[in-house]
Amino acid sequence: MAGIDDIRSQFNNELKHASDLDKLQLLETSYLGRNGKINALLAEMKSKTPEERKSYGQEINELKQSLTLQITQLKTLLSTRKDQGGDVDVTLPGTVYPKGSIHLVSIAIEEISRIYEKIGFIRTSYPEVEYEFFSFESLNMPKSHAARDDFETSFIDAPVHSKWGKMLLTPHTSSGQVREMWRVGKPPIRMINIAKTYRPNWDATHTPMFFQFEGLCVDEGINITHLKGTLDHFVKEYFGSDIEGRLRPHHFQFTEPSFEVDVTCTVCKGTTKVEGAKCKVCKSGWLELGGTGMVHPNVLKAGKIDPKKYSGWAFGFGVERVIMMKYGIDDIRNYYAGDIRFLEQF
Ligand code: DAH
Repeated sequence: MAGIDDIRSQFNNELKHASDLDKLQLLETSYLGRNGKINALLAEMKSKTPEERKSYGQEINELKQSLTLQITQLKTLLSTRKDQGGDVDVTLPGTVYPKGSIHLVSIAIEEISRIYEKIGFIRTSYPEVEYEFFSFESLNMPKSHAARDDFETSFIDAPVHSKWGKMLLTPHTSSGQVREMWRVGKPPIRMINIAKTYRPNWDATHTPMFFQFEGLCVDEGINITHLKGTLDHFVKEYFGSDIEGRLRPHHFQFTEPSFEVDVTCTVCKGTTKVEGAKCKVCKSGWLELGGTGMVHPNVLKAGKIDPKKYSGWAFGFGVERVIMMKYGIDDIRNYYAGDIRFLEQF
C-alpha cells in the first residue's frame, strides 16, 4: 500500500496531464471519490497503533484539503477557457463589480464643511454623549429652566459629575460652543461643529438620531450684518444662486436677539405655485432652515470671554433637513432605512 507521500507525488504528476475538464473529473474521482486513494489511506487507520492514529489522520486530512484546493483552482481555470472557446483572452474587459456609493448625509457633511472652511471656519466635532453643563447651563439654561423641556433629552445612566452634572445624549450641537471657546481661549473664533444629536422623535421629518451643524463666530466688533452675510453665502453656495435667506425674530435662551432663518422654497422658488397649482412643500414661498442669533453675554462668560470686549453670533441647522430642502425629499426616514434603491441616487 502506497504511503501518504507517494500519493501526493503521484497526484502532482497526474494533475499536470489533466488538460481538460473530463480528465480532471476522472482524476478527482480516483483520489477523492468513495473508492479513491484518500479513502484507501484512511482505511489503513486500523493497522496503526492508537498513538500513531492522531498524526496519521491529520496528515491525510491535510493532503485531502490540498488536493481539493488544487482541483478547484484548475477547474476554474479550465472552465474559463472553455467559456471563451480556447485560451484566456487577456484583451477582454474584466469583470465589473458593483460599486458602493457615499451616503448622502456624508456627502452633505463634506459639502457643508467645504463651504465654511473656504471662508476660514474650523471644522470640529464635539461629544454626542455630553454633560448637562455643556448642553444647558453653559447656554444660559440654568437647572430646571423650562426651555430645557423643548429638547426632550435622553439621560445616560452614569455617575453624576460634581461640576458638570448628569450625562446625556446631546440634543443639539450648541453644546460645542463653550467647549470651543475654552479650546481657543482668545478670540477670534470661527467654528463649524458637525456632530450627531438626539431627540426621541420618529416621523417623516424626524429621526431620533440626526446631525446638526453649528456655526460660531466670536471676535471684536462682530454684529448681525456679519451673521446675515455668512448665512447668505452658505444659502447660495449650498442651495444655488437663485435662493435667498431671511431672518425672522424668535427666541432662544443662548442668543439675544434670536432669529429663525428661512430660505426661498427650493421647489416653487418662492412663487408658491408649481405649474399653476399651489406648492405642496411650502405655504408662503419660504422654508424654515433653523435657529440663529447673537451669542448671549452669559454664554460668552461661561466660555471665559469678556462680553464687553467681544461679541459673536451662532447658528444651528439640521444636516438631514438641508438635504431634504435641497432635493425635495419628503421622508427623512429613507436616509437610514438602508434601501439601496434610494441611496444609490446620490
Ligand atoms: N440649538 C438650537 C436647536 O437645536 C438651534 C440654535 C438656535 C443654535 C440658535 C444656535 C442658535 O447656535 O444661535 O434647536
